[in-house]
Amino acid sequence: MYTKGTFKEVIAMLSQLDQNTMKERAARQAADTVWNGARLGVGTGSTVKFFIDALGERKAAGLQLGAVVTTSSRSKAQLEGLGFTVSELADVEQLDLTVDGADRVDSHLDGIKGGGGALTLEKNVAVHSAHNTWIVDESKVVDHLGGFPLPVEVLPISAKQVYNQFEDEGLLPQFRTTATGERYVTHYGNYIIDLYIDPLPAPRGLATYLDSTVGVVEHGLFLGICDTVIIAREDGTIDVK
Ligand code: 5RP
Repeated sequence: MYTKGTFKEVIAMLSQLDQNTMKERAARQAADTVWNGARLGVGTGSTVKFFIDALGERKAAGLQLGAVVTTSSRSKAQLEGLGFTVSELADVEQLDLTVDGADRVDSHLDGIKGGGGALTLEKNVAVHSAHNTWIVDESKVVDHLGGFPLPVEVLPISAKQVYNQFEDEGLLPQFRTTATGERYVTHYGNYIIDLYIDPLPAPRGLATYLDSTVGVVEHGLFLGICDTVIIAREDGTIDVK
């Protein structure tokens, strides 16, 4: 059953600094793997923010990228503030490496993403990247995908019907709302329905079902996309898988 925060998340909230330190350590290690001339995808979120900071330091030390594409206006503004020229995915043939955060990752490097609502662009950037590295603190690592609501981006024109369909399927849907209680609207003008079913019964089957549901634009199951995960742990160690 889904609860608002796992034990680890509650502990992490109580020691926010520690979690941020872990995020920064994973991010810095990822920044060290970026090579000169790389066409780089840069994701979204608080861990990626540390990655962009570290990338800025590498730029100041002489790193030159072939291209940079990003998945949110916030990351774009941060990159541009550091002097990077940011391209649109449509203007780049192929990316070499994308570095992004994740909301959950399992031992097969399958994951849940989209907590920040940028899942559609994140998945498009990821699948057009030769390599994908995720940077996470250890609270994101799970045995079975779950413990985090699965975001599904849906077209407004049939959002009500899709919501009802999810309810009938027992997927425990909820429309995402903003802090002021309005319906959350994505960069592309769509809604997000978060599925609170936990744990996810069969991620591949669920992904196939969502992929074939009319009205679904994209979903946050990222299966077989990530090839490297950098996990920063509370004990100060870093695992690369
Ligand atoms: C945004 C994402 C983020 O990568 C994910 O939510 C992780 O964020 P954070 O690094 O802030 O924990 O998928 O859509």
